[in-house]
Amino acid sequence: MNTITDAVKFYSHVLLFRFKGGSPREYRRQWDSYWRTVNATGPGGEVLWDNAPERASAEDMQRFAAHLDPGLPLVDLGCGNGRQSRFLARHFQRVIGVDVAPAAIELAQRETRGTPEEGKIDYRVWNGAVAGEAEALHAEIGDANIYMRTVFHCVQAPDRPCFVASLAALLGDRGTLYQIELNRSALDTFRKLPGDSPSGLPELVHKVVKNGIHPIGFSKQDQERYYPDDRWIVLDQGDAVAIETVRLGHGAPALVPANFLVLRPRRGRR
Ligand SMILES: C[S@@+](CC[C@H](N)C(=O)[O-])C[C@H]1O[C@@H](n2cnc3c(N)ncnc32)[C@H](O)[C@@H]1O
Repeated sequence: MNTITDAVKFYSHVLLFRFKGGSPREYRRQWDSYWRTVNATGPGGEVLWDNAPERASAEDMQRFAAHLDPGLPLVDLGCGNGRQSRFLARHFQRVIGVDVAPAAIELAQRETRGTPEEGKIDYRVWNGAVAGEAEALHAEIGDANIYMRTVFHCVQAPDRPCFVASLAALLGDRGTLYQIELNRSALDTFRKLPGDSPSGLPELVHKVVKNGIHPIGFSKQDQERYYPDDRWIVLDQGDAVAIETVRLGHGAPALVPANFLVLRPRRGRR
């Protein structure tokens, strides 16, 4: 997408999505409405990021596994349909997949039923942008590690402090957080790909944002702001990584620029 016409088409749709979808802070309603439209998942399906674990959480594990206490439960935060949760459950004793969208949790439960991992995973509807939900989960499961793949980049600025407080509450004194998030140029990457939707975006991206979901990205400045050095210890980080999407309309997956962090709260500073 390069021309002025393309830009007009794109921004007029962004306005329309905002008008119809309401505030991008209504995570539960908007993500639920997205997940209710999903009919086919996995690498050949219609969920943009739902790639095979070999191209997703398996790569992530190489970055975080050495830093975790493997005896703690692992929370897959914003687990969607649970494809990565199921892979993680092959490597960790207990996985709890949490997601703000009831439709995602229903789908995750359905797709997990009858798999060898079923007995090791619980799924819960849970919202990281609502104060108190993390404390309630922590009271139940104790300190936990967190795996978070492409969730924070959609959390809007006013909710980010609460969201980070939720992460810290779940981690407690012993947990470690791994996050991999799209950076702030991710939407531009999608806009440069061949568009096959009314907004000019690839159809699988359009299918997400038309619900009012507003991806912002996660940058180095966000890291400094939300995980300041006096509160968080950075165990590892990298910004030369990518999220690989499923195959898009032009016949190939996209590699979307991302960054990862492995973090732990400083003791006594939660
Ligand atoms: C881009 S998807 C990634 C799904 C999954 N992590 C994966 O990689 O397959 C983002 C997920 O985060 C969930 N989500 C968004 N905001 C959330 C919040 N405030 N609390 C919990 N989950 C949230 C969405 O419902 C969605 O399933």
